[in-house]
Amino acid sequence: WQVVSPKDPNVPPVVFHWIPIFGSAAQYGHDPINFFFKCREKYGDVFTFILFGRKMTVALGPKGNHFVTGGKLSEVSAEEAYTHLTTPVFGKDVVYDVPNHILMEQKRFVKFGLSVENFRAYVGLIEDEVETYLNNDPSFTVYGLGDINEWGSFNALKCMQELTIFTASRTLQGKEVRASLDKSFADLYNDLDGGFTPLNFLFPNLPLESYRKRDRAQKAMSDFYVQIQENRKDEDHSHDHDMLAALASQKYKDGTPLTERQIAHIMIALLMAGQHTSSATASWALLHLADRPDIADALYEEQVKHFSTPDGKLRAMTYEELKDLPLLDSVIRETLRVHPPIHSIIRKVIKDVPVPGSLANPGPDLTYIVPKGHYILSCPALSQADPAVWRDANKWDPLRWSDPEGVAAQAFKTYDDATGEKVDYGFGAVSKGTESPYQPFGAGRHRCIGEQFAYVQLGVVLSTIVRRLEMKLDTPIPSPDFHTMITLPKKPCNIRYRRRNFD
Ligand code: HEM
Repeated sequence: WQVVSPKDPNVPPVVFHWIPIFGSAAQYGHDPINFFFKCREKYGDVFTFILFGRKMTVALGPKGNHFVTGGKLSEVSAEEAYTHLTTPVFGKDVVYDVPNHILMEQKRFVKFGLSVENFRAYVGLIEDEVETYLNNDPSFTVYGLGDINEWGSFNALKCMQELTIFTASRTLQGKEVRASLDKSFADLYNDLDGGFTPLNFLFPNLPLESYRKRDRAQKAMSDFYVQIQENRKDEDHSHDHDMLAALASQKYKDGTPLTERQIAHIMIALLMAGQHTSSATASWALLHLADRPDIADALYEEQVKHFSTPDGKLRAMTYEELKDLPLLDSVIRETLRVHPPIHSIIRKVIKDVPVPGSLANPGPDLTYIVPKGHYILSCPALSQADPAVWRDANKWDPLRWSDPEGVAAQAFKTYDDATGEKVDYGFGAVSKGTESPYQPFGAGRHRCIGEQFAYVQLGVVLSTIVRRLEMKLDTPIPSPDFHTMITLPKKPCNIRYRRRNFD
């Protein structure tokens, strides 16, 4: 570890803290966004805080996002930042347990499975899962049995967690996983998930029962996926639309196929990558829709406009039609702006890295150096909530994305409040670029590959629910809980609902 002194002009300022090793863990863990806004006022866009002995250098704003997500392979490493959390959960030889060029090949294999052809098949399957859930889950008895005017209540997070795993397994994960969900698989999943927490990130090797459970569950789940592949050998599955079928056909550049074990571990990685991110997003979207019945009604009208049949029913949608629903798209986009499931993106510095002068320049000819051994961290959740960038930054307002004057004019401030001068936030501010202030799916080489799948899954889940239910909230929107890996709504997060008239 290099000693960081706030007096050294070459290293970023260190956030003041009372307890040496502990550092700013409490403030960061409790509310990272608020903590970073306060630090920015005091120290500027680049500063270092201490997190249980680790030196975390934060780079804020669109340029900070670029600094972290656009970092050079020779200078920063995602695998060194994440592997001790992910490898015990996903398993060996995949994702951050392999060199970056292998991860890039593995992402290409997964992209092959996330094809338009497969998405076309998924839309109907997801709708079917949601319908079945509404008809059968005890939370929705009022939906099935009650009088049309009777109001029931469901827990948004619990229901969205269940629906997310049901729909992901029915589509991506494959029918064997879907069939096992009611049995052993759910327990394995819970034990594995119990090992994917901030505690595991901070302390990889504690002698705790939850760590041992995680390891047992990883092995059992890995064996389960290997067994599915063995069982499939007797039949032709090459035309199946799930990821197991897609990965079975893939080869590394040197001609070697993926092993069954690697495929098993990629499947676990995908399960973990998509589960909390999508279920949190669906929960936040429903909570906001329940809070804004005017938007929920407009969403329902969008469905009626596109899908009503002569006999007054709503027909099934296709993948192409789903992609062409502007309000639905805006609801998801805006929910991911206000509630990005992943608030911090972290890399480990493996070679001293200079901070570009335009991002932080402590003197005329100086830039900071972030020393090897530090971590660098960008916070898309902050740039997505920055009043310097967004009008009414804290307001959930899906309409900002569909204003006829164009996204840039509506969603972003294009002028400086104080001077009235035009502000340029860089190329395509909402683009996929590393310098965008809007990065719920990250950017650069480690950018998410699950975005399109998430949009299909969220789009069908939300529209099917809005077709069936009217919703309202008796309480304010819950505050975010930052104590989990993924930012979830605090409990209770109950939504009141009743059936829509047309059923
Ligand atoms: C990477 C967010 C769903 C698979 C990422 C990253 C973010 C993210 C922020 C970048 C992490 C970093 O740079 O450190 C989300 C959100 C989702 C979502 C908000 C849903 C709303 C999914 C799904 C899958 C998936 C459904 C799989 C089907 C991946 C993979 C990576 C990734 C493989 C690449 C990791 C890397 O290259 O290092 N995701 N994700 N994600 N995500 Fe997602």
